[in-house]
Amino acid sequence: MSIRLGDIAPDFTAESSEGKINFHQFLGNSWGILFSHPADFTPVCTTELGSVAKLKPEFEKRNVKVIALSVDPVQSHIDWIKDINETQKTTVNYPIIADPTFEVSKLYGFVHPNASDKFTVRSVVIIGPDKKVKLLITYPASTGRNFNEILRVIDSLQLTANYSVATPANWKNGEDVIIVPAVKDEDIAVKFPKGHTRIKSYLRYTPQPNLN
Ligand code: BEZ
Repeated sequence: MSIRLGDIAPDFTAESSEGKINFHQFLGNSWGILFSHPADFTPVCTTELGSVAKLKPEFEKRNVKVIALSVDPVQSHIDWIKDINETQKTTVNYPIIADPTFEVSKLYGFVHPNASDKFTVRSVVIIGPDKKVKLLITYPASTGRNFNEILRVIDSLQLTANYSVATPANWKNGEDVIIVPAVKDEDIAVKFPKGHTRIKSYLRYTPQPNLN
């Protein structure tokens, strides 16, 4: 089975490097990121897990819980974490799910048999507080993910969740955003008191609403 945007993120209970976890309980009312890895003790994954550990305060600022997954068993994760901490000069401070039976991986479509039937692919799932899937990206095994991009998407998703705006190409936190087409011209002044620029009837920019 695989999942699509808007689906409820499948719930599961699994062992992890921090003990048994029920996924939905772990998420609580927070946003969440679940990211899968091909295997423990692999070089690209080692850098990725270190990078996420260093970014944990940024995820926390945004009320995002982080959890990784690989198909190796718990003891392997625990041994690997020591290597990650040593080589990446950090402390892995979030759980890694052990999925040796591929149960969770299959639930989330992390196994792409034509790429490999032994390893999971390098995927990221962002889940909203409503437990719905907001983003799915899959990378090749040889390309480490850009977790600053994941933070950028979270910033965009959280703006969209709170205001009637979307974010343009290559948008960065602090830059102008787009007023969604559903907002009528006559309602803009009340909804966006910071002002707006009208390029076309369907292309209207406003300063990022959650900044002073
Ligand atoms: C890695 O994480 O380094 C990796 C994993 C599987 C295939 C290639 C690279």
